[in-house]
Amino acid sequence: MEAVSLERAESIVAKWKNKKGNLIMILHDVQDAFGYIPEHVARRISRLLDIPLARIYEVLTFYHYFKLNQPGKYKIAVCMGTACYLKGSPEILEELKTILHVEEGATTSDGLFYIECVRCLGCCGLAPVMAVNGTIYGNLKKGDVVDIISRYSKEG
Ligand code: FES
Repeated sequence: MEAVSLERAESIVAKWKNKKGNLIMILHDVQDAFGYIPEHVARRISRLLDIPLARIYEVLTFYHYFKLNQPGKYKIAVCMGTACYLKGSPEILEELKTILHVEEGATTSDGLFYIECVRCLGCCGLAPVMAVNGTIYGNLKKGDVVDIISRYSKEG
């Protein structure tokens, strides 16, 4: 798998090698290809472009768009916008972290769930809200979280 991803990364670098501002374009393509920026791929890009690895991580951490961890099959977005926050989304987030044993910005060890916080999901009337792969769950209570998660766990 690692060899395949390095091969893929090399062809992405070759595509952008002589273009200006290519680092960002390369990182975008890598994330499109793998869903995140694997560390071994970042190292290979650093060698191929002769750019310090620290510089690559500077860019990766500056733009929130880039993900450093492999995303789970189910991406859970917990809304931390004002309406949701005031109606209890921090409690929903804590419940998710407890049930899944994972922190925000990380994926569960079985690769199923990834948790992230977002600013507003555009349905503040249903606050507090979370989305699982884009499906909205609103008017959430702490007790709803376990049912929602178990539904997805069963599907695997
Ligand atoms: S603040 Fe949560 S949906 Fe808008």
